[in-house]
Amino acid sequence: MRTDLKGKWILITGASSGFGAAAARAFGAEGSRLLLGARRQERLEQVAVEALKAGAAEAHVHRLDVSQTTSVEAFMAWATTRIGPASSAGAGLDVLLNNAGGAQGLDTVAQGKDADWEAMIQSNVLGVLRMTRAALPLIRKDCGSSIINIGSVAGHVAYEGGAAYCAAKAGELQITRALRLELNGTGIRVSTIDPGLAETEFSLVRFKGDATRAKQVYAGTHPLTAEDIAEILVWVASRPSHVNIDELLVKPVDQAAVHKVYRRS
Ligand SMILES: NC(=O)c1ccc[n+]([C@@H]2O[C@H](COP(=O)([O-])OP(=O)(O)OC[C@H]3O[C@@H](n4cnc5c(N)ncnc54)[C@H](OP(=O)(O)O)[C@@H]3O)[C@@H](O)[C@H]2O)c1
Repeated sequence: MRTDLKGKWILITGASSGFGAAAARAFGAEGSRLLLGARRQERLEQVAVEALKAGAAEAHVHRLDVSQTTSVEAFMAWATTRIGPASSAGAGLDVLLNNAGGAQGLDTVAQGKDADWEAMIQSNVLGVLRMTRAALPLIRKDCGSSIINIGSVAGHVAYEGGAAYCAAKAGELQITRALRLELNGTGIRVSTIDPGLAETEFSLVRFKGDATRAKQVYAGTHPLTAEDIAEILVWVASRPSHVNIDELLVKPVDQAAVHKVYRRS
């Protein structure tokens, strides 16, 4: 039987744009209760309004920087006051969506900047570890709860200029695999969803606000949208409670491989 998401608590990191914001609206449309985190609080508040309009039972926002342990702990303390500990009747977190992250720069290793490398490892790798460690006591056992991490095709295939980002997403993939082994027997499902080319703010952030360069990434192709990924995330979380979608690689039809993208002139 499909896992009903109505009234369920869904925690989404990186909910201020892209996949995270679309996921907030999509889980909202299921009637879920949302806890949304990211650094840009005004954007989060706007997303919460959209999620409530879509049908969310509740939507709450709090500033979160997954690259800082103190911020993660403050966020989870706030989340606990909203949800209540997993031990109390009917309480607990149903879905942890570790989505916050992204790429910084497209430099070769020879040209790479420490600050970019460190930011990518902080958000995509350590952020997932920190959030998961802090959220685990809150996650319900044996009732179809899920930890869903956002990986990337970059975690499977390397490309020039992507050394640190590819390493970070390969790290995310191995964290997901280790966690699934560690949580075996708890009933908590552990998944990674690994998208290819998707048009969000990802490239704008990677190219430090250079909108022209960011646009070129998608020129002539039909990329994935944030909504495509959000629909998949809802599908993963709503599988029957005994079904775990381990790893899901999803690319646009135009992207046959990382280096083979069809572009219309
Ligand atoms: N778009 C793609 O082509 C693609 C493909 C594969 C995987 N991904 C992955 O998908 C995830 C979402 O990216 P997106 O495409 O939706 O890009 P996006 O539109 O740039 O969204 C990234 C989100 O992550 C948040 N974030 C970044 N660093 C953070 C931090 N230190 N603490 C808290 N939140 C942080 C951002 O919020 P604030 O800036 O407000 O904190 C934003 O909400 C990322 O993990 C990315 O690596 C993207």
